[in-house]
Amino acid sequence: MRRNPLAYLDNELNEWRAQGILRPLRVLDGEQAAHASIDHRSVVNLSSNNYLGFTTHPRLRERAFAALTSLGVGTGSVRSIAGTMEIHMELERRLAVFKRTEAAVVFQSGFVANAGTVSALLGRDDVIVSDELNHASIIDGARLSRATIKVFPHRDVMAARRILEALPRGQRTLLITDGVFSMDGDLGALPGLCDLADEFGCIMMVDDAHASGVFGREGRGTVDHFGLHGRVDVQVGTLSKALGALGGYVAGSQSLIEFLYRRARPFLFSTSHPPSVAATCLAALDVLESEPQWMERLWQNTRFFKAGLQALGFNTGGSESPITPVIVGDGARAMTLSDKLFEAGVFAQGIAFPTVARDKARVRTIVTATHTQADLQFALDAFKTVGTELGII
Ligand SMILES: Cc1ncc(COP(=O)(O)O)c(C=O)c1O
Repeated sequence: MRRNPLAYLDNELNEWRAQGILRPLRVLDGEQAAHASIDHRSVVNLSSNNYLGFTTHPRLRERAFAALTSLGVGTGSVRSIAGTMEIHMELERRLAVFKRTEAAVVFQSGFVANAGTVSALLGRDDVIVSDELNHASIIDGARLSRATIKVFPHRDVMAARRILEALPRGQRTLLITDGVFSMDGDLGALPGLCDLADEFGCIMMVDDAHASGVFGREGRGTVDHFGLHGRVDVQVGTLSKALGALGGYVAGSQSLIEFLYRRARPFLFSTSHPPSVAATCLAALDVLESEPQWMERLWQNTRFFKAGLQALGFNTGGSESPITPVIVGDGARAMTLSDKLFEAGVFAQGIAFPTVARDKARVRTIVTATHTQADLQFALDAFKTVGTELGII
């Protein structure tokens, strides 16, 4: 009989089961929305990145339908061969204007925007100086580049400086941070890092996946939020979260974009977005500009919910964004908190190692513009009951 060469996977799975951190995937019965049916239960949904509620916005749906009808369901090719439609170019021009840069390139996801860009820009002789909590896609891109990777403690500009001081003069170096950290909801140390990049001649890059549509004027991101236009060479944004659809983009100089068109591997070797996705993103940018109420509501809800969790006595870390973690430490405890909240009608996903450090497991909450105050109060009441029951507060 053939030996199962994948038996080690069962060993791993059993181990996670024994640790109490293995759960089945939660399945949405219908749309992604603030109030959703998940696993056949009606819940207040605090786990999506649908910050502005755009996944179901009527204007985005209409534009997607129109593009499906006029342009079909797919592109049938990678961008660099036959998969570039005028609507992709229109989206890129629009994103460049939005980000106040010369040009932009759209990728199939934020993940490949980061990984494809970092690995294209840097090579074996280069150095990447990266915040320890940067997103996995940055880490993977850095590994693929074969550059030397140097990690500085979270948001520690002085530590980043010491790394840069120790490098030879003229060393090509990328300094990179998330704009908003996805598990903690705090902001990257962008202003201080930009000063370092100027002083040491580094390429400065920010991943604004969770800042797009959330921070800055009309959701332009952390560069706009901090007033750093012209000082960040490579800005990554996502179309998958606040913008409600799917994709990632890089905004920067014309030369950067021309280079990525020719060297970023996801651009060269993976089929482009269906035109309906590009159309949805264009509609999302229109709505961002013409309906400021979504961002306003997002921030009202953020302030209300964060203050509520803190008043209950939960440890919410240093969040400055709509992402508010409820840090409980042990992985199994975080999963139990999440399970019990779900039973009480609130979906807030438990997150454990390896997504976060072993002793920093948490339930992560994300409010959206489309939650009502009653939804959020309901969720706070559930947190109070379950948190008390588990002895967390
Ligand atoms: C900080 C950060 N960067 C990049 C990504 C990837 O974006 P996308 O979901 O569009 O691939 C994510 C999403 O999980 C993220 O949290």
